[in-house]
Amino acid sequence: MTPDPLNFGPDFRWGVSTSAYQIEGAVTEGGRGPSTWDTFCASPGAVLNGDTGEVACDHYHRYAEDVGLMRDLGVDVYRFSFSWPRIQPSGIGPGNADGLDFYDRLIDSPLTAGIQPAPTLFHWDTPQALEDAGGWASRDITGRFADYAALLAERFADRVPLWMTINEPVVLTLLGYAVGGHAPGKRLGFEALPVAHHQLLAHGRAVQALRAGGASNIGIASNHAPTWSASDSPEDVAAAGFYDNLVNWLFADPVLLGRYPEGLGEAMPGPVAEDLEVISTPIDWFGLNHYAPVRVGAPTGNPDTAATDGIPMPDGLPFEPRVLEGYPRTDFGWPVVPEAFGEILQTFKTRYGDRLPPIYITENGCAINDEPVDGVVTDQRRIDYLGAYLRVLKESIDNGIDVRGYFQWSLLDNFEWAAGYSQRFGLVHVDFKTQARTPKASYHWYRNLIAKSRE
Ligand code: NOJ
Repeated sequence: MTPDPLNFGPDFRWGVSTSAYQIEGAVTEGGRGPSTWDTFCASPGAVLNGDTGEVACDHYHRYAEDVGLMRDLGVDVYRFSFSWPRIQPSGIGPGNADGLDFYDRLIDSPLTAGIQPAPTLFHWDTPQALEDAGGWASRDITGRFADYAALLAERFADRVPLWMTINEPVVLTLLGYAVGGHAPGKRLGFEALPVAHHQLLAHGRAVQALRAGGASNIGIASNHAPTWSASDSPEDVAAAGFYDNLVNWLFADPVLLGRYPEGLGEAMPGPVAEDLEVISTPIDWFGLNHYAPVRVGAPTGNPDTAATDGIPMPDGLPFEPRVLEGYPRTDFGWPVVPEAFGEILQTFKTRYGDRLPPIYITENGCAINDEPVDGVVTDQRRIDYLGAYLRVLKESIDNGIDVRGYFQWSLLDNFEWAAGYSQRFGLVHVDFKTQARTPKASYHWYRNLIAKSRE
């Protein structure tokens, strides 16, 4: 009998992912301080349609309903993020009681439903007061982050079985500080490189602080994708190699090997060699977010082939992201290329060998914007996407890559950053006017897949 290509066996852990700013809402409740995303959303033209996270999915008030949806889905783990400004409204000092109480509920309620809570410490919503003091461009924030981690460990280590430090540090560095498409909207170009170093150092310091506070099973959630050269020309190959170092290995090499890719360490501030010791504090597992590969060539300035998502790029970049032709696209325009998922996993295994800890896929999914028709959302294209990506994941596992679990992005349609509410990544449809939740066809499909793998 041919084995079912989607049966991952009973030990594999299935989950869904969300993040605080994208779903919680209630931005002025419970003593929460302002975050850089509140500020960014208030800046005209920053977010599509002027959307904000003020209400989002109102998860702050509706978390019990959402945990019920996860229980019925049958997931083992729930990945969410702590909102730093809910815990420490200005990023320093003692914990805010209402904020800590909220996360007590958000941890206890899945536990009661048989679901393990898996929080991320930081998913981009920096307390505005820390941003005003220099944000991630300043080394000070690494100490603040270690204190925040210690506070979380003290409160939650007894109940949280799986931790993540930072989500997608490359995105905050490049979109937040280099080109300004995300909060805090800075356009520093290559001067943004210290932001990468400070996030990495904050990660390492947080791993140490969490462990000292009794937490274990700690990882990071970093996004990675193959970079494909636009052609075989030496110029394109060099440009793609540079880009690959900048978006992939600048973040994974320091954590897993304790060094920066060639040529990038020199741009970093502070006692870099000492910092790298902290950054490479061993982690228990590596979280990989993956969506789609990127095609990159030497700069041409041709607007028909350059792919910059409408964000103006700084002058003088030594590379140019290009439109990747020849693949189906999600409604967000991202190419659907399941084989690239296998490629990046294999690259990790080859590049890091014995230094690679077990992997969790901490995000994967797609924006498919189907709406309910007579109360039913038939998002067949999401089912096709997830089926194809999971088949490749299973092949990679069968080929010896140690992947222990998979978190689908996302449980709910939510606030998709600069794209506002225009892109729907959820297994559950959210009507943002009424807050009604409607499980989509993909929710039922995922539930069935999880149930079958336990048979
Ligand atoms: C990356 C981010 O971690 C998450 O916040 C975002 O919504 C998804 N990927 C989709 O873009």
